[in-house]
Amino acid sequence: MKITIAADAAAGARVVADLVERTLRDAGDRGPVLGLATGSSPLPAYAELIRRHQEEGLSFARARAVLLDEYVGLTAAHAQSYHRVIREQFTAHLDIDDAAVMSPDGAADDPAAEALAYDRRIAEAGGVDLQILGIGANGHIAFNEPSSSLASRTRVVGLTRRTISDNARFFDDPADVPVRAISQGLGTVREARRIVLTASGEGKAEAVAQLVEGPISARWPATSLQLHPDVVVVVDEAAASRLELSDYYRSVQELEAAVPAAGTRGR
Ligand code: GLP
Repeated sequence: MKITIAADAAAGARVVADLVERTLRDAGDRGPVLGLATGSSPLPAYAELIRRHQEEGLSFARARAVLLDEYVGLTAAHAQSYHRVIREQFTAHLDIDDAAVMSPDGAADDPAAEALAYDRRIAEAGGVDLQILGIGANGHIAFNEPSSSLASRTRVVGLTRRTISDNARFFDDPADVPVRAISQGLGTVREARRIVLTASGEGKAEAVAQLVEGPISARWPATSLQLHPDVVVVVDEAAASRLELSDYYRSVQELEAAVPAAGTRGR
């Protein structure tokens, strides 16, 4: 993994945005496929990309986007559906075609069949070129809660009590808070060609330490990313605070800044 410890949110956002920009530039004729995550972690990067689009002409016109997950029971039009949230927070501010933003249908009659079909739709799109990820405090990625199979595919998952109560603030009626989601599996996420995971704050420090240095385990689902050859982890000082080898990561970061050709990506 390549670990970048960013001085502040703006610096971290630029690292993620640079990777997205490179992906847009390097994609072949079929056009780039971006994997998008909801949650607060990627918001500074999304804001930076919106700025580059509006002020520098960065175009997403040829891109397609694939969401990680969706709540079971919510239509795409529901104010809290991830489909709508990502549109309002990110894609509506770009020149990406709305129809090119793909998400599982949370209102499907048969959510299990929809999950299987979603994996097929990702493959038909040519797979994800760059997957943007956040991480839960318990080490979940997408909605792969602890105990998720490291080989899991897109499927219906039950949310932890903690995740359900964290989400309750977004709903007027507690009875409306979804308890299940359709989520890309850990195996599905790892099929992306490149992954960038971003985290900030002390609350993510343990999950980040496990992700980077812990043993691979379903207890901390993000550790499955250690099996991927091209993962970039972008964290602030607080989220990096429990990394045992942070001196090493910083020295590699300095080396790369001084000698960019040293190219240690995919260590
Ligand atoms: C939710 C999402 C994840 C996200 C996580 C962390 O569970 N399904 O994709 O990474 O929350 O959210 P945040 O970035 O707001 O801390």
